[in-house]
Amino acid sequence: MKYAKEIQKRRTFAIISHPDAGKTTLTEKLLLFGGAIQVAGAVKSNKIKKFATSDFMEIERQRGISVATSVMTFAYQDIVINLLDTPGHKDFAEDTYRTLTAVDSVILVIDGVNGVEEQTRRLMEVCRMRDTPVIVFINKMDRDGKNRFDLLEEIEKELAIQLHPMTWPINSGKEFKGVYNLSDKNLRLFAANTKGIEEDLISVNDFNDKTLIEKLGEKDANILTADVELVDTVHGELSVSDYLSAKVAPVFFGSAINNFGVKEMLDTFIRIAPTPCNRTTSVREVTVDEEKFSGFVFKIHANLDPKHRDRVAFVRVCSGRFERNKYYHHVRLDKDIRFSNPYSFMAREKNMVEDAYPGDVVGLFDTGNFKIGDTLTEGENFYFTGIPTFSPEIFKEVVNKDPMKSKQLEKGLLQLTDEGVVQLFTQYGGHKKIIGCVGELQFEVIQYRLLHEYGASVQFNNLPYYKACWITSNDKIKLNDFTRFKSANTGVDKDGHIVYLAQSEWFLNTERSNNPDIEFHFSSEIHKASK
Ligand code: G4P
Repeated sequence: MKYAKEIQKRRTFAIISHPDAGKTTLTEKLLLFGGAIQVAGAVKSNKIKKFATSDFMEIERQRGISVATSVMTFAYQDIVINLLDTPGHKDFAEDTYRTLTAVDSVILVIDGVNGVEEQTRRLMEVCRMRDTPVIVFINKMDRDGKNRFDLLEEIEKELAIQLHPMTWPINSGKEFKGVYNLSDKNLRLFAANTKGIEEDLISVNDFNDKTLIEKLGEKDANILTADVELVDTVHGELSVSDYLSAKVAPVFFGSAINNFGVKEMLDTFIRIAPTPCNRTTSVREVTVDEEKFSGFVFKIHANLDPKHRDRVAFVRVCSGRFERNKYYHHVRLDKDIRFSNPYSFMAREKNMVEDAYPGDVVGLFDTGNFKIGDTLTEGENFYFTGIPTFSPEIFKEVVNKDPMKSKQLEKGLLQLTDEGVVQLFTQYGGHKKIIGCVGELQFEVIQYRLLHEYGASVQFNNLPYYKACWITSNDKIKLNDFTRFKSANTGVDKDGHIVYLAQSEWFLNTERSNNPDIEFHFSSEIHKASK
């Protein structure tokens, strides 16, 4: 294995959470541990607090100029950690789902007061589709939260994953006294804003030890003793292979804002989190230790500065070594391209890189060559699979307000769909262009960008669809007949896949039972493995 040393050093992951659970705060603490930032407050939240387009645009403009926040690379104890950022706003969930295809594991932050929330569920569904290993961080233990046992039960039930507590809390809110590390058998007493220095640790090999009562008081010492006995009996040792196969999720309790419980998690993370793994493609499995380079585009970030119309394509390296100025094969375009200014994102700075290894993300300046899911190789023809597209939830017809600008509109819509900002469907047999999004905010963003970047002025007409279902069948005649008979409700997506646009769940169920030979899917894959 030529690059084994580099591969073993890398951990590529994302932090996911429902907005406000503490993702930004935890990110910042991890960066502090990694020395990538020196002061708290350096990481700007990518949340859109006022839910207004202008806010979003301002944030995007800043992010466009400083794309460094999309990937944060830092070193911790000789391990190179690539932390991939995900948008905080639920209307941009698709972006998050795609970023999850580029990571090898995730840390899921749950607010200890609110427990499992809507976005937590959806993100976990995506993780489950790919069997992504998950570590859970239960945050805000300094606030009065749910009973610890009830909370774990709720998470297990709602997210359908078996949990394995690694630390155990002593109360919450004002009474929060700290966490007990179940594997290292020591206690860390809670202090606001700790830096996680070792002196805080108290070894507890014997629960009859007087120091435990001295530190916690008799009542809490007794509760902890009973809790630990119970948890140990039920869970025993963590099976790392069960974690790696996504059957079990280790759980840590803490308070990100107080930098409490974070170090325990980070130390375990670098010990057990997966190194870059093998990936499936449309043709064969690509093993991480292959000498030849391969990678795929999982995100495209538009530079919203009108003076610079270029974009940045984020490529996840899957095998081999990526080198600056070397020609690589762009499989979809069947063209060899070299990159003279590839970027890495060390210490939150954009830096030109000479090379990159599996697990790394490189930013490539793009003048329109890339779309999400594109694969780069050293000559071989295959596509990385497993990059999903989900059914949008809101649909609108695009109406061109300025017929003189039809070409610009066409180009703008194509580029915005390549970036994955929106999904575009064309009605069967007609020319009606239908845009599908997850949230209203995206429509405003598209309208704004079409006008400012392409000079095309559009208006949207609401359409009464509930879901777009990709339809497939082994019986091509039946599929053709269905598409023809239901032409008002069928269309094609930008890759030419047929979709059925259902008005309601009732319509969908009716079509399903009337057409048993047709399969209706709520998600589609950009590239599928050939059988
Ligand atoms: P997000 O990225 O997941 O959306 O969450 P973020 O880190 O921005 O945290 C959301 C809010 O929760 C912030 O407060 C943050 O300070 C607070 N928070 C994070 N971790 C903890 C914790 O361990 N304990 C407590 N009590 N609060 C925590 P905010 O008022 O919305 O923002 P800010 O004005 O403090 O920045």
